[in-house]
Amino acid sequence: MLRTVLVTGGAGYIGSHACLALIKAGYDPIILDNFSNSNAVAIQRLRALCQKDIPAIEGDIRDTNLCAKALRDYECDSVIHFAGLKAVGESQTKALEYYDVNLVGSHSLLRAMQDVGVNRIIFSSSATVYGVPKALPLKENHPLAPTNPYGQTKLAVERLLSDVAASEANLKYGILRYFNPVGADSSSRIGEDPRGVPSNLMPFIAQVAVGRREALMVFGNDYDTPDGTGVRDYIHVSDLADAHVKALEKLEDSAESFIVNLGTGKGYSVLDMIEAFASASGQSIPYNISNRRVGDVAVVYSDPSYAEKLLGWKAVRELDDMCRDHWAWQTANPRGYEK
Ligand SMILES: NC(=O)c1ccc[n+]([C@@H]2O[C@H](COP(=O)([O-])OP(=O)(O)OC[C@H]3O[C@@H](n4cnc5c(N)ncnc54)[C@H](O)[C@@H]3O)[C@@H](O)[C@H]2O)c1
Repeated sequence: MLRTVLVTGGAGYIGSHACLALIKAGYDPIILDNFSNSNAVAIQRLRALCQKDIPAIEGDIRDTNLCAKALRDYECDSVIHFAGLKAVGESQTKALEYYDVNLVGSHSLLRAMQDVGVNRIIFSSSATVYGVPKALPLKENHPLAPTNPYGQTKLAVERLLSDVAASEANLKYGILRYFNPVGADSSSRIGEDPRGVPSNLMPFIAQVAVGRREALMVFGNDYDTPDGTGVRDYIHVSDLADAHVKALEKLEDSAESFIVNLGTGKGYSVLDMIEAFASASGQSIPYNISNRRVGDVAVVYSDPSYAEKLLGWKAVRELDDMCRDHWAWQTANPRGYEK
């Protein structure tokens, strides 16, 4: 059984929840993170939650020797690769940085894996690789046409993995294309703690609800959707975390690499999200409507059926659970991991 997993970006939002799921399933995660978008307190809390001394290395995935040393020292047999930069808007003004961390970083990690002889990797990709949907729901064989540098780097890493696996018979990968992760672990000890102004909807709504920000800006109410606002596929981060355990199991059993969507298959509009969050929190969520944001599309949601077929996994948590758990995390930690 694959047991010891190097988790790059394991202190981050999804990575920390995945570490929790991995430990519950009997795996030993080893975290490698440079804390550029996370806080070491997340790891302390994980250790307390699991009653386990999770090893953590502070360092950068672009440091190949460090990655190789971590893989060797802890005798890792697989890697889950979360580390990267993830803000679509920022990627448009810092393209070089995004290619450096996301693509060069992934190359460095793969080189380290090759040096040490580790040949199983799960990669965090994104629904942004599909670009503007030509057909809905989005299936894995939908054409790939990202519309921003962030999505391009994700697609570039997908292609890198495919090419390296074709040239190295032993390498097997699982590419997971996430839709929109939200919520927090039900303990409220770990959750999403964005730095600065949140670029995602749910943390922004939560910060308005808790009084940290005045009002939400809704970008466009003239889309071709039932209420005019954009529709997305939101998935509870704990469901997403569980899928990583299933993906690792699959990678162990199967001779084949795979690419799979992780979403719920349901679409909710911005106004649906505001209403659901207001109901879960008992707070009013003031909002203003502004112009559409360049690059945003009307509706995006997944076809999650292949994940169920391939991994035996499907999301079980509903929108109410997502809002309740996100709100519980926000109220227990109004300033995130800061004291
Ligand atoms: N959150 C989303 O909406 C979403 C959607 C689709 C895909 N993804 C992908 O999932 C992965 C995890 O996302 P997240 O939401 O947990 O983000 P996050 O920013 O919370 O976590 C990423 C982690 O990687 C670390 N990191 C960044 N650069 C690093 C480097 N060079 N070396 C080592 N560590 C580094 C950060 O400090 C952080 O802890 C990312 O690859 C992201 O692109 C996220």
